[in-house]
Amino acid sequence: MSNQKIAVVTGANRGLGLELVRQLADLNFKVVLTSRDDTKGLKAVDELHRNGLKVDYHNLDVASDKSVSKFTAFCRQKYGRVDVLVNNAGVLLDSFDPQNASILNVDINRIRDTMDVNVYGAIRMSQAIVPMMIEHNYGRIINFSSEMGQLSDMNGSFAAYRLSKTALNAVTRILAAETEGYNIQVNSICPGWVKTDMGGPNATRDVSEGVATAVWLAQQPENRPSGRFYRDRQEID
Ligand SMILES: NC(=O)c1ccc[n+]([C@@H]2O[C@H](COP(=O)([O-])OP(=O)(O)OC[C@H]3O[C@@H](n4cnc5c(N)ncnc54)[C@H](OP(=O)(O)O)[C@@H]3O)[C@@H](O)[C@H]2O)c1
Repeated sequence: MSNQKIAVVTGANRGLGLELVRQLADLNFKVVLTSRDDTKGLKAVDELHRNGLKVDYHNLDVASDKSVSKFTAFCRQKYGRVDVLVNNAGVLLDSFDPQNASILNVDINRIRDTMDVNVYGAIRMSQAIVPMMIEHNYGRIINFSSEMGQLSDMNGSFAAYRLSKTALNAVTRILAAETEGYNIQVNSICPGWVKTDMGGPNATRDVSEGVATAVWLAQQPENRPSGRFYRDRQEID
């Protein structure tokens, strides 16, 4: 079996996920680009192939138990392992009208739908993939969080999104504690404010800057910190 590391990126048909696939493939990871929509996913794969980067593809909706289970069976059968899992898929469903995005007014279903992707999606993926990492005594898990979920700097508005990213950071801590001793590192990152469909055109960073810390964490040697929150390769609260 080759020494090439297998990396899975969720929500990778556009934005930060797609850029991360590009950079990891460039670093000779065997990357599985995943998308919940085959048309969008295959279009992204095509574009990478035209630029000389070979990546694999599989459908994956992190909000669906069935889809996660099909995807895991594919990974087991094709690679027998997953070395790097990037929980990048995310939604920002809050209204941009501060009144409606307030925790006093937000529709509870909007919080549920946000949690289903941003938090339960990462948990579903971890439950599916971490057993393979434990078997191989190797794993790097990177959760795309946000400073909007930082308890030390919490603010009003965007209630559903903020709650989901705070919870995702808790997932990082819990999972890091439970995988200690297996050479598995689980960390959260904040990519900064990045020009994507989610970040919008006024964001201050491009996607390349946004994924730099994730690329760095994907390549960490053994005995590096786990359960931390990083931005620009620096630990944050
Ligand atoms: N951009 C920023 O400024 C910023 C800042 C802080 C944190 N982040 C975080 O970084 C991550 C990526 O953000 P982005 O800016 O690249 O967002 P984006 O451009 O909106 O892309 C989000 C990706 O997630 C996918 N996705 C949504 N629900 C999914 C599901 N159920 N299953 C699988 N994929 C799903 C989307 O697929 P479709 O195309 O099918 O919708 C899309 O590929 C997110 O977790 C976000 O919260 C972004």
